[in-house]
Amino acid sequence: MLKIGNVRLKNRLVLAPMAGVTNLAFRILARRYGAGLAFSEMVDADGMFYDIHRRKKEFSTNSEDAPVTCQLFWGAGRYAC
Ligand SMILES: Cc1cc2nc3c(=O)[nH]c(=O)nc-3n(C[C@H](O)[C@H](O)[C@H](O)COP(=O)(O)O)c2cc1C
Repeated sequence: MLKIGNVRLKNRLVLAPMAGVTNLAFRILARRYGAGLAFSEMVDADGMFYDIHRRKKEFSTNSEDAPVTCQLFWGAGRYAC
């Protein structure tokens, strides 16, 4: 069984991060079809700082959407959180 830190995944199927695709609805569908982990869309960290209300929508999640990871983009780098 795959374990990341103290999070144990139910299987090794991971939904890759896809900008413009992996929103909350898509992630929930992927989970219903078996994904053990799902990535959010790529989120611009600078944009989040300057436009928090719009970015909150990109980050929206719920109890069915777990465990979830997000991909933060900042300048030239990408970070998973
Ligand atoms: C529409 C689309 C959007 C993508 N957006 C991102 C992204 O924002 N960040 C990222 O790291 N990879 C992105 N990717 C790459 C995917 O996460 C993945 O690495 C790639 O599709 C290869 O997956 P595979 O090895 O399972 O074939 C994107 C891929 C597609 C098709």
